[in-house]
Amino acid sequence: RRPNARGVDLSDIRELDALAKGMREADARVWRAAPLINGLVNGKKAGAGQADDQRKNAIAVKSPADNERTVGDVVWATADDIDAALASAAEAADGWSATPGRERAACLRRYADLLEEHTAELVALCAREAGKHIPDGIAEVREAVDFCRYYACQVEDEFDGEHVLPGPTGERNTYRLHGRGVFVCICPWNFPLAIFTGQVTAALAAGNAVIAKPAEQSSLIGARAVALMHKAGIPTDVLHLLPGDGPSVGAKLVADRRVDGVAFTGSLATAKAINKTLAERDGPLIPLIAETGGQNAMIVDSSALIEQVVADVIKSGFQSAGQRCSALRVLYVQNDIADTLLDMLSGAMAELSIGDPWKLSTDVTPVIDAEARDGLTQYAEQVDGTLDTVYCCRLGDTTRRGTFFAPRTLALKNSSQLGDEQFGPIVHVVRFEADELDAVVDAINGLGYGLTFGIHSRIDTTVERVIRRIKVGNAYVNRNMIGAVVGVHPFGGEGLSGTGPKAGGPHYLHRFATERAVSRDT
Ligand code: SER
Repeated sequence: RRPNARGVDLSDIRELDALAKGMREADARVWRAAPLINGLVNGKKAGAGQADDQRKNAIAVKSPADNERTVGDVVWATADDIDAALASAAEAADGWSATPGRERAACLRRYADLLEEHTAELVALCAREAGKHIPDGIAEVREAVDFCRYYACQVEDEFDGEHVLPGPTGERNTYRLHGRGVFVCICPWNFPLAIFTGQVTAALAAGNAVIAKPAEQSSLIGARAVALMHKAGIPTDVLHLLPGDGPSVGAKLVADRRVDGVAFTGSLATAKAINKTLAERDGPLIPLIAETGGQNAMIVDSSALIEQVVADVIKSGFQSAGQRCSALRVLYVQNDIADTLLDMLSGAMAELSIGDPWKLSTDVTPVIDAEARDGLTQYAEQVDGTLDTVYCCRLGDTTRRGTFFAPRTLALKNSSQLGDEQFGPIVHVVRFEADELDAVVDAINGLGYGLTFGIHSRIDTTVERVIRRIKVGNAYVNRNMIGAVVGVHPFGGEGLSGTGPKAGGPHYLHRFATERAVSRDT
């Protein structure tokens, strides 16, 4: 077991000062993203002041915390960019797959070191472009570093050389792992550095050429990550960046027969659309690695420690403004303690500080953009009258210029009132009686998702009974249910929540690779 990244100790004044200084410096820069093909932007070396003609098409990137603040700008990829990136990646793929695994691993380790060196800058970018508060930004860098070092170890252990298999006398049997070819990584905005890095480095480590498409809401962070990967030694023809939206870039990439694998994290609807395209297009049968969302539930029985439950619900439901695929969406509380728990939870919600991600005291940050806020607002209006609001936080003046949505808890009479996943700071609450525990588990399983789950109970037999039956990828007992750590909590769901394998787990890299067996008569 190797140690995880240490991050930044915010209680150490020297570390805090260094972080703040680095963040201020990063904030003074104008950040830019553009298609990066063979290390060139518009045919010229990246950063060579080239882009003036191309930047006429640039779209301003506004901060979700303050829509009057421009963080930088982004140029989206054109059809020609997509074609050029695919052609180059297809040519480079075999050579990269033939590169010894330890050399690919060395690039990942150098990238991890660079991420740590650039922590302050990346935390600043996560705050400005993605609205992440400082602890979340630090966690992004840590998780990204962990992915690199974890996958680097696996490549060294498993991708170099032949694995010898048993066989009868006179026969030598081996198998080897190879890259599949060109992998497209379509990454989400909610972990713009960590999941971006996790997908892209896994595909690279396994020996694939990669076309990375960051979410359009977090192109600047994606561009910075790719620049650091190139600096770490990933060849520029092996890794290309194509910023843009789903219809004009993602959909075109996935439909192209030069693509040999797709990794996607995002909505269930898009995962299904990608699956359909892959099934219907020409070319090889290829795997989709998809991670989507969940209607993640937590069960709290009457033996639970209420103070701890409250802290864990606040973290699971409202940290990152509820914009984690792992976030708590439905809280099932045994009736005997429901009134007390909900009173305490409402009290704790009243203390949440909602506002500027740049401030260390902030608990709840904005949602990613106006579309997200409007969708949540529309849902809240639609259920008003059907669902009782247990508690709704107040938004102060400091949130006026950003896309904030007030955290709230809404009471359901039963699980059947639950609609689609709401990707924001809304926790639904359902009361249950002691003899309904199995029915609650059935209701959760019946939703068809299977990402995270939490249980708070101090009765071991209850915990065991529930954990044995619940169909999820990540179950958490008597703790919060977010913040999976690489190599410690391999992360990913089942059912409608994703295809597996688990990111940061022992089998992830294999899905990016192809296995070839050789049987020789000796
Ligand atoms: N891995 C994240 C978490 O555990 C979600 O994507 O919160």
